[in-house]
Amino acid sequence: IKNIGVLTSGGDAPGMNAAIRAVVRASLYHELKVTGILRGYDGLINADFIPMDGKSVANIIQRGGTVLKTARCDAFRTKEGRAKAYDNLKKSEIDALVVIGGDGTFTGANVFAQEYDFPIVGLPGTIDNDLMGTDLTIGYDTAINTVVNAVDRIRDTAESHDRLFIVEVMGRDSGLIALRSGIGVGAEAIMIPEAKTAVSDLIKRIENGRKDKASKIIVVAEGDEAGGAYNVGKALEKKFPNYDIRISVLGHIQRGGKPTCMDRVLASRLGVAAVEGLLEGKAGVMAGQVNKEIIFTPFAGAIKHINAEQITPAWLKLAEILSM
Ligand code: F6P
Repeated sequence: IKNIGVLTSGGDAPGMNAAIRAVVRASLYHELKVTGILRGYDGLINADFIPMDGKSVANIIQRGGTVLKTARCDAFRTKEGRAKAYDNLKKSEIDALVVIGGDGTFTGANVFAQEYDFPIVGLPGTIDNDLMGTDLTIGYDTAINTVVNAVDRIRDTAESHDRLFIVEVMGRDSGLIALRSGIGVGAEAIMIPEAKTAVSDLIKRIENGRKDKASKIIVVAEGDEAGGAYNVGKALEKKFPNYDIRISVLGHIQRGGKPTCMDRVLASRLGVAAVEGLLEGKAGVMAGQVNKEIIFTPFAGAIKHINAEQITPAWLKLAEILSM
């Protein structure tokens, strides 16, 4: 391997810049060329390539977003799109890739790697934490801390007005942001797709809940079966006309901001591991950290969607015990 291409794809996540920096620095350390690919797979298809050196990643470890920009790319789902991408890589003599992203990114990487026998190592970059093969994804720690900071503020006003707030957090297919941050803010209820909580159960919980505490925070994952905070709000308004209900959808503030130290260090460690993994012949795998050790998981195993180990009945029980 002589020239490693690096890209970020899918939704951005805080810590992606730290990962890019680590890939570039590790490549230079091992005397390899390194090429930045702009806007994820779009940039591969359009040959949007930039040479990277030590300076191009100076002063980015602390920045949110991604200096390489990112996109969700439909063309890479097609054979023609992937053929263009391969041609561009050949022409530019890029002979390996590090792709930073989530399940969509790895689904594309997996198909491409098999089609062209091309060495790719992935890095888990998503606020959702919904990948197998790593305890935490890059961006998750920052995102849940952003949620906690926001909901703590909402709690102040909820408490002052004796209001019930329904706070929607991100996670299209996964309730991991809602579960952790909900426990962290002391939510009265947490609704996540994995638990399939019916609105009728939520109503029962509120009916049977403490009467001496008028303020309530209900954290709802965007992907929950109930259809998001507004739908839950409508159902509760009907049932509890005396409650003063407010909705707050946190949205994309969860994706931005300075990465926490945990995310910076995870990204840095995994970025170096990806380059060294490629040099050792690893391909078609995601680098992750499990029980403090670096492990490599085939893409197909990493994208099983839900980090099932983390949403166990024990976690759901914990949330229930604490939310009384
Ligand atoms: O995958 C990360 C994520 O932030 C999800 O939690 C969310 O559902 C989705 O991306 C939003 O995507 P977009 O920014 O394209 O609307």
